[in-house]
Amino acid sequence: MKNILIISGGIEAIPGIIKAKEMGLNVVVSDGNPNAPGFNYSDDKIIASTYDHKETYRKVKNYHTLKKNIDGVICIASDVPYTVAYVAEKLQLPGIPLKSANLAIDKILMKDSLSRSGVLVPDYHEIKSFAEFNNIINTWDYPLIIKPVDSRGARGVLRLVPGVDLDWAWNYSLKNSPSGRVMIERYLDGVQLSTESIIVKSKCYTCGYSDRNYEYLDRYAPHIIENGSDMPTIFSKHVKKRIDETIKMGAESLGIKNGIIKGDIVISDNEVKVIELATRLSGGYFSTNMIPSSTGIDLIKEAIKISLGEKIRHKDLLPKHNKYISQRYIFPNAGVIKKIKGIKKLKNNSSLKFFNIHAKVGQEIGKITSHPSRAGMVIAEGTSRKDAVNQCKKAINDIGFDYQ
Ligand SMILES: Nc1ncnc2c1ncn2[C@@H]1O[C@H](COP(=O)(O)OP(=O)(O)O)[C@@H](O)[C@H]1O
Ligand SMILES: [Mg+2]
Repeated sequence: MKNILIISGGIEAIPGIIKAKEMGLNVVVSDGNPNAPGFNYSDDKIIASTYDHKETYRKVKNYHTLKKNIDGVICIASDVPYTVAYVAEKLQLPGIPLKSANLAIDKILMKDSLSRSGVLVPDYHEIKSFAEFNNIINTWDYPLIIKPVDSRGARGVLRLVPGVDLDWAWNYSLKNSPSGRVMIERYLDGVQLSTESIIVKSKCYTCGYSDRNYEYLDRYAPHIIENGSDMPTIFSKHVKKRIDETIKMGAESLGIKNGIIKGDIVISDNEVKVIELATRLSGGYFSTNMIPSSTGIDLIKEAIKISLGEKIRHKDLLPKHNKYISQRYIFPNAGVIKKIKGIKKLKNNSSLKFFNIHAKVGQEIGKITSHPSRAGMVIAEGTSRKDAVNQCKKAINDIGFDYQ
């Protein structure tokens, strides 16, 4: 029986852990939280911070040597591709080169690499001081984006328009960068998409395209908060092919021959442009629920097979159908939650493919400033995009919060 290491036992990793079990694998989960919910589904656990690649490797090596060989390593719904690449390289398991992981976790190095190979990206520049920031503001036109070079979940990403306090924006973005580095970009106007691709022997298969919903861009400004997404995309086969070709070029420029690429794409001025590519599976239930529900592609299974170095069949990466699947998030008000009502209704709602409410009674909800501050989400199937969205809205209306 093969043995897979899944880095992260967070709630969003559970569908992946279950999938690995269904594939007949022995599953080891590593997480820094001794009470990680994923441990309830795994065969073995290793307690190590997912972000700490050295600690994870040390403990995994112990397990590998003393207990049972690890055959493959993957992260599911957690943003730790560097830890995965590090463990894979050290244990000589299938995986992307460490150099590629390093390029992809630094938004400046990534964009340098992408733009060198002809992938279109927004104009970008690392800003080293507030004076330099001011200079650029005076020369580039609004709207602009300031963001940490190395953060995640839209933390510290701000859309700058006239009137945003630049002093605050600079400090806020800086505070959200683990390495204290920030960058500025031109804001790309257009429809934004999330994509998920599997690269097999340098061939790119983009399995999922969803149109991201930014209806709350103004409500939460200057923060950029996504309110779910819709599948299938409104874009034609032709545009999808161009996106796929762009991701293939991007993967090549990052040095990835086999692996997963998650894309943040914008169709701007009729061109396919890339905000970022990540060398990991997406979170937000896109890879685990939306793609399989809409297309019938078992993305997690294929990703696990890649991480074990197993053969991938071309036909398993092609969509079997194109169902209307939408996702919308639950945004609570500020305050301390006293009661969450309506969960039973959601459980009985047959149009829901999935829902998750991670806000807890007693939790203090502050201002919504990044993706983790949303309270939960629903995924529904409909007979059309409009119907799927309405099903989501109806389900969210059934949920109520009482505040203390
Ligand atoms: N240059 C840009 N133009 C338009 N939207 C952007 C730009 N940069 C970031 N965004 C928006 O902000 C979100 C978060 O930024 P991103 O660079 O992807 O950081 P993170 O690593 O936190 O996901 C993106 O998914 C996108 O919606
Ligand atoms: Mg992103």
